[in-house]
Amino acid sequence: MRRKAEALHDALEALETDHRRRQRSVVDYALQDFCSNDYLGLAHHPRLMEAATRAISRYGAGGRASHLINGHTEEHEQLEYALARLTGRERALVFSTGYMANLGVIQALSGHHAVVIQDRLNHASLIDAGRLAAPRGLSRYAHADVANAKARLEKAITQQPQASRLLVTDGVFSMDGDLAPLPELAQLAKEYEAWLVVDDAHGIGTLGQHGGGCCELFNLDSDQVPVLVGTFGKALGSFGAFVAGDSALIEWLLQTSRTYIYTTALPPHVAAATRAALELLTDEPWHKEKLQTNIQYFRSRAQQLGIELLDSQSAIQPILLGSEQRTLYLSARLREHRFSVAAIRPPTVPKGTSRLRITLSSRHNPADIDALLRVLADELHRDSV
Ligand SMILES: Cc1ncc(COP(=O)(O)O)c(C=O)c1O
Repeated sequence: MRRKAEALHDALEALETDHRRRQRSVVDYALQDFCSNDYLGLAHHPRLMEAATRAISRYGAGGRASHLINGHTEEHEQLEYALARLTGRERALVFSTGYMANLGVIQALSGHHAVVIQDRLNHASLIDAGRLAAPRGLSRYAHADVANAKARLEKAITQQPQASRLLVTDGVFSMDGDLAPLPELAQLAKEYEAWLVVDDAHGIGTLGQHGGGCCELFNLDSDQVPVLVGTFGKALGSFGAFVAGDSALIEWLLQTSRTYIYTTALPPHVAAATRAALELLTDEPWHKEKLQTNIQYFRSRAQQLGIELLDSQSAIQPILLGSEQRTLYLSARLREHRFSVAAIRPPTVPKGTSRLRITLSSRHNPADIDALLRVLADELHRDSV
């Protein structure tokens, strides 16, 4: 036992030496938040908090049981209807987290034999889902490279014609902020008879005229994107996730998706808060509009200050630095100036691409963005001389 503990100690030391050891810090609300995913500032919106409070006094604090036993309340039912309306799909199914939704949907569609073809930069939960569901069938294409995805589908259909095929992508990439080439991927999936699974965790609420995400933005229906995953813990300001699609797909997930069946239901008050957030997408569209204004403002001010950005039009605006050490240093310097910006390092991102992941929100004002960028420009300049 002692030898095992020593091995762990050595492994932790190695992480420290490589500047990859992760640290938690308790949230300091005095800091200006430029790293959470509360893109529309809804987490503290009075309507979400009131909806949650009302539901908690009716249903209690917990989920009590799984959906198929007796955890499925009217709050979940109504939320699923609202999600189906938002996404223009026949039905939606609420999962307890986005991680579980991804594991559950890929397992349920993979059967005994599948090839799961994924963008190399997909979220870890999708990659893990592929590893679990199809340990020998996971294939990762170069980021946003439709030709590379096509070559892998071609190989799959030639070598394993009986296997089910899944083509899986983030809608908005969580660490780069760019959009997947969804119309082209939808075309490809159709051509090769593959399930297209789109995880739109960062697009739901922020993109599309009504906040329906990437599919609304590109006008893609359930025939083109049959499996749409979204989460509540980001723009919707609460917690949990969903899958939306045709009735047959949702019924299949309900019958077979292990991460749906064998877990406690999302607490009803979380479902209530989420439904309030969906209503706000219509009732208070200015949160989304302000976010878009902030994104444009951030990008133009950064350009004026000579700060290099990636090609992202979303709320996720990374500053690519390369080294872990430099990224940690700059994150700490920003913290001294009262800004909270996450230092993202491998294995979350590929080696040599450590970065500051700045996220924008409708809570920010131009003055906040100016203040952050001025400090950042000074630090980057000092760092480079
Ligand atoms: C693209 C993407 N998918 C899924 C998840 C997981 O969602 P959840 O936090 O609800 O588990 C995240 C982040 O958390 C994400 O960025």
